[in-house]
Amino acid sequence: MIIYGKNINMRTVKLKDAKFIYDMRQNLTKTKYLSKIDSSVKQQENWINNYKAREEKKEEFYFVIESKGNERLGLVRMYDFQEDSFCWGSWLIKDGAPKTTAIESALQVYEFGFYGLNFKQSHFDVRKGNEKVISFHKRFGANVVSEDDVNYYFRFTEERYRTTKEI
Ligand SMILES: CC(C)(COP(=O)(O)OP(=O)(O)OC[C@H]1O[C@@H](n2cnc3c(N)ncnc32)[C@H](O)[C@@H]1OP(=O)(O)O)[C@@H](O)C(=O)NCCC(=O)NCCS
Repeated sequence: MIIYGKNINMRTVKLKDAKFIYDMRQNLTKTKYLSKIDSSVKQQENWINNYKAREEKKEEFYFVIESKGNERLGLVRMYDFQEDSFCWGSWLIKDGAPKTTAIESALQVYEFGFYGLNFKQSHFDVRKGNEKVISFHKRFGANVVSEDDVNYYFRFTEERYRTTKEI
C-alpha cells in the first residue's frame, strides 16, 4: 500500500527493507528513546514476515517514508488498534531528510488513521526526556492525559486535528 503526499510517499515495508530498518535502528542517538529491537538483519526479516500477516488483517501498518524520488527517509508505524483509537510510533527520520518530512509524515498518519481507517482519536506515548518529540506533539495540539516514571501518554482527537489542519 502507498499513501501519496506532496513531497513524500509512505509505503508499507517490504522484506527488502530489513537492512534499512536495521541500519536506522543502529543509530544510537536517534533510537535513544525507542525500544530496543532484535539485533540482526535476519531477525528483522522474520519480524517483517510476521508483521505482513498483521498488515494483511489491517491490524498494523508499518511505513517507509520515501522522497518522491524513492529515497528512503524514515519509518513510522500505526498499531494497537482499539475501538475508536489507534496508536502510532516507531517514528524515525534520517539525518539530512528535508525539513518538512516530520510534519508531512505526521499529517499522513492522521489522515489515514482518521479518514482511511475511521478512528476518532489517536493515543501514543513519548519517553520522558524526549523533549523535541514532546514539543512536536504539543504544537500539533495533542494532550498529555497521563504519565508514569517512563512515559507521557498522549491523546489527539480527530476534532482537534481538524483545527490543527486549518492553522
Ligand atoms: C521524531 C522525529 C521523526 C521528528 O522529526 P524531526 O525532523 O526531528 O522533527 P522536528 O520536531 O524537528 O520538526 C521538523 C520541523 O517542523 C517544525 N514543526 C514541528 N511541528 C510544527 C508545527 N505544528 N507547525 C509548524 N512547524 C512545525 C519544526 O520546528 C521543525 O522545523 P525547524 O527544524 O526549522 O525548527 C525525529 O526527531 C527522530 O527521528 N527522532 C528519533 C526517534 C524518536 O524519538 N522518535 C519518536 C518516538 S515517540
